[in-house]
Amino acid sequence: MSADYVPLEGYETLSEADMRAQAESVYDTLRKRRSIRDFSDKPVPQDIIESCIKSAGTAPSGANHQPWHFVAISNPDMKRKIRIAAEAEEAEFYGGKAPDEWLDALAPLGTDASKPFLETAPWLIAVFAQRKGGEQVGQSKKNYYITESVGLATGMLITALHSAGLGTLTHTPAPMGFLRDICERPKDEKPFVLMVVGYPAENAQVPKHALVKKSLGDISTFIT
Ligand SMILES: Cc1cc2nc3c(=O)[nH]c(=O)nc-3n(C[C@H](O)[C@H](O)[C@H](O)COP(=O)(O)O)c2cc1C
Repeated sequence: MSADYVPLEGYETLSEADMRAQAESVYDTLRKRRSIRDFSDKPVPQDIIESCIKSAGTAPSGANHQPWHFVAISNPDMKRKIRIAAEAEEAEFYGGKAPDEWLDALAPLGTDASKPFLETAPWLIAVFAQRKGGEQVGQSKKNYYITESVGLATGMLITALHSAGLGTLTHTPAPMGFLRDICERPKDEKPFVLMVVGYPAENAQVPKHALVKKSLGDISTFIT
């Protein structure tokens, strides 16, 4: 079977000066992203969330199978159900299930089993990873590099939401099986993360611990 190629469209060559300015500008935007745990209840229009999910859906994926599904929830009853289930899991986690090493690592963030933001924030986006699928909806082929693909799409979702001026929290109440049941997703989909989305509350605070990022020298090696 021969591959069918078409000319690349939409690629714009920038001058080095523009590239540099653009790269710095993206960095300047992204370095201001913080995980938010104090959300305002101010509504966010659905079309903005839809555009951000469309951005996530442009992510690269193994064999272009796009093994993800995003369930965007603003319904108060559903958010309440999710909060109750998440807090039950988190109570067990913080109440003895989590190893001390994990709890020590979380201590500087000051997180606990209480998750009021799951009801306060206007949107929750449950991200699911599909074990089976294909490049078209309804297929049930084997998917490849599922975690990598869904991780990339989630990163692009966070980037889109942040660029649109919204705060996010990547939340992973462990285990997250309850999300599949509440969102009525099929058994072969695995809850990946629960993205909490909205405006930061006025006077929202963030842990100092999260401000420290490794330097370019720490996270990269250049071989020229
Ligand atoms: C995969 C993943 C899971 C996370 N799970 C939680 C979580 O369940 N609860 C929480 O409060 N923060 C969670 N976080 C947020 C991290 O604590 C946060 O990204 C980190 O402290 C760095 O802070 P920053 O996002 O503001 O840069 C998670 C982040 C990632 C990437």
